[in-house]
Amino acid sequence: MRAMKNIVILISGRGSNMQAIVQALTKESWPAHIAAVISNRADAEGLAFARQHGIATEVVANKDYASREQFDAALQATIDRFQPDLVVLAGFMRILTASFVEHYDGRMLNIHPSLLPNFPGLNTHQQALDAGVKVHGATVHFVTTTLDHGPIVTQATVPVLADDTEQSLAARVLIQEHVIYPQAVRWFVEGRLSVEGGRVQIAR
Ligand code: GRF
Repeated sequence: MRAMKNIVILISGRGSNMQAIVQALTKESWPAHIAAVISNRADAEGLAFARQHGIATEVVANKDYASREQFDAALQATIDRFQPDLVVLAGFMRILTASFVEHYDGRMLNIHPSLLPNFPGLNTHQQALDAGVKVHGATVHFVTTTLDHGPIVTQATVPVLADDTEQSLAARVLIQEHVIYPQAVRWFVEGRLSVEGGRVQIAR
């Protein structure tokens, strides 16, 4: 029998990736349990979905803390009450301190809306349009202390069309995010991911 894995998901807003993960976990009966959804903003829309699905929610508001270090310490204490095997960053719009990231080394995933290592940071879809790339996409990666870097678990590509706007491109990428993020989290909870020399191996 496989042990159930505890997942804590961090959001800042809409939470559509969080919803995709919750729905896939429920539908596919993964050996995992969403222990909590935590937001740094009390007004994050995704919190309502989590509550409606009987998932514990917490708010640790960064505006209540004087420094990044104090906020990260409070966030870490809240996360750790739920004894996570995996922390999932799902549109969590905070830069994290090195000590926080190191605490979750090998057990924290992020999704970034570009084909990393291209276009780290913000406004990825506009960056892609400005660069004139013909393909764009999204990346799920383990979180390391360098922002939007870290071993790549999986990526999905979409075409960039001649008449794309930032919005149309973002929408096309988001559809793929909702496919690859649940897939990557499922691989993790099934114990299939390992990192060797900065590369992720996915066991069959
Ligand atoms: C997604 O595009 C994600 O890749 C990025 O922020 C957005 C969050 O969307 N990091 P949602 O909150 O999951 O709907």
